[in-house]
Amino acid sequence: MMVALQRACLLVLFLEVFLPLPQHAQDPAMVHYIYQRFQVLESLKIVRKTMDPDGSWMKDAGGNSAKVYLLIGSRNNTVWEFANLRTFMEDSTKPGPRKLVLPLSWQGSGQVIYKSFLFFHNQGTSNEIIKYNLQKKTVEDRMLLPGGAGRAPIYQHSLSTYIDLAVDEHGLWAIHSGPGTQGHLVLTKIEPDTLGIEHSWETPCRNQDAEASFLLCGVLYVVYSFSGQGPHRITCVYDPLGTVREEHLPNLFFPKRPRSHSMIHYNPRDKQLYAWNEGNQIIYKLQTKKRLPLE
Ligand SMILES: *[C@@H]1O[C@H](CO)[C@@H](O)[C@H](O)[C@H]1NC(C)=O
Repeated sequence: MMVALQRACLLVLFLEVFLPLPQHAQDPAMVHYIYQRFQVLESLKIVRKTMDPDGSWMKDAGGNSAKVYLLIGSRNNTVWEFANLRTFMEDSTKPGPRKLVLPLSWQGSGQVIYKSFLFFHNQGTSNEIIKYNLQKKTVEDRMLLPGGAGRAPIYQHSLSTYIDLAVDEHGLWAIHSGPGTQGHLVLTKIEPDTLGIEHSWETPCRNQDAEASFLLCGVLYVVYSFSGQGPHRITCVYDPLGTVREEHLPNLFFPKRPRSHSMIHYNPRDKQLYAWNEGNQIIYKLQTKKRLPLE
């Protein structure tokens, strides 16, 4: 199953920004690096401002809906549903958002929407994930993440998130703490229909100085920042399926932001990152390219 998915997966992060190696400082290619960095700065788009430092926002990462969802705060049960990105950006336009009140509250900012289901960490439990049917407005299913999940915050700079969820080209994932893994992130692949666990990996990525992470094409990218302030950069990449060659793994910088991110989630439909930083809802546009098959 995983092997078939692996072959179908064609995207990798394009190397938008490299950290120029010191020995290349005089290299003409340096100009190119700087230009590429500039491209990243331009690709940031603040689409809305909400006062709360914590929260998440997203589109359905597995369906065709244009709807945008806003979940304000790190513990709440109110979900705001906007018709599309435009109504999300222009607060005053009619129709206003639809208010959905969940029967349970979420914890942290790791929620995802996948194929009309909202998946979230149930507040007050250490490791329960709720699968909520947004159309029927009912709890569809629930599961317990094993292996010490939810006992500690995953990221040092985002202390309310104990379980982070992610969707990429391969489906649904959870990022969480583990038993005795000494601050290393654990990655678990979840089967979204049955909520069964497909596999868990102890990653080499540390929780120290981490603020967020996302999955893209089966690869985990962890964003770090020293003391929660910029620069925010990906310094740990974990490739559990072995689909990406070492030299293709990016060293990606994010545009300077005053605070750490509350969440950064990839959406495989539009290949953008949806992020929350200091109350701002941000889109980071990514460049992706087709991956050459491994020999
Ligand atoms: C929950 O969210 C709603 C609207 O987003 C807000 O009015 C309310 O104060 C929040 N409740 C808590 C406990 O934060």
